[in-house]
Amino acid sequence: MTHFLDIHTTDTADLHKIIAQARAMKTARAGVPKGTLDADTPLANHMVALIFEKPSTRTRVSFDVGVRQMGGQTLVLSGTDMQLGHGETIADTARVLSRYVDLIMIRTFEEQTLLEMAEYASVPVINGLTNRTHPCQIMADIMTFEERNGSIKGKKVVWTGDGNNVFASFAHAAKQFEFDLVFSGPSTLDPEKELEGLYTTVRDPNEAVEGADLVVTDTWVSMHDPQSARERRHNQLRGYQVNDALMAKAKPDSLFMHCLPAHRDDEATSSVMDGKHSVIFDEAENRLHAQKAIMRHCLGV
Ligand code: CP
Ligand code: NVA
Repeated sequence: MTHFLDIHTTDTADLHKIIAQARAMKTARAGVPKGTLDADTPLANHMVALIFEKPSTRTRVSFDVGVRQMGGQTLVLSGTDMQLGHGETIADTARVLSRYVDLIMIRTFEEQTLLEMAEYASVPVINGLTNRTHPCQIMADIMTFEERNGSIKGKKVVWTGDGNNVFASFAHAAKQFEFDLVFSGPSTLDPEKELEGLYTTVRDPNEAVEGADLVVTDTWVSMHDPQSARERRHNQLRGYQVNDALMAKAKPDSLFMHCLPAHRDDEATSSVMDGKHSVIFDEAENRLHAQKAIMRHCLGV
């Protein structure tokens, strides 16, 4: 069974193959109307369940469109409408879904839910974000970096802000794709202990961003964070905002990324988000191409 649960648990060669396939599939679709099927339809006769226990725009739409372009069909399911974890065990839901569908993508809270789904499903399971990781996003981000500025190997990637789930997948990717990752945020929002050794920390964002090839940030309050933490987090993170002055310290051809959704003028100014370094909408587009390649990898088609 080939799941796609995390970047560090996926074979390095497979990760590179997925990026190469995503790029080839993107090229093949250039200029093709969005509703047109791909020339080959590897997911013909496949049914894919997309389960969301948290809100989503990009993940929901890019997976749904991706499956359809490859000739498959989707069921988009909201966690709250299912028995998942309340009416029955995750294991039983996994066993039942496996009788109906060929592939499961799940966005959930606890990583344990994803792992249990993968353990008991007899079809591949894809991680569409948990409180701890967001691997599909980072596959799209690596693809985006490489289509603009070539191999990410040996490059300097600087993360500013909260050491959250998206950072964690960047940390896993740093080892697999061999780039240097710098974390710049307050010690109160340091990444989890398990990631130590995968990145270095530079508290001062101005110093951290010096000579960066890529500057990345994310929301200061994630979906799993209590809203009551909002004001405290804003106070802790204000100094880590990505603005024009900070971007000017990075390399002239550096890129700026944000997985979106963004709180404009909090974690990054609109001038950076809409500026010459920004590739935020390429990242969003590449979710589609990267995930199509991930689904093919999981299904072996
Ligand atoms: N970046 C991302 O995963 O966006 P959504 O929450 O809209 O899916
Ligand atoms: N860190 C954010 C990412 C959203 C795509 C969250 O988990 O809410």
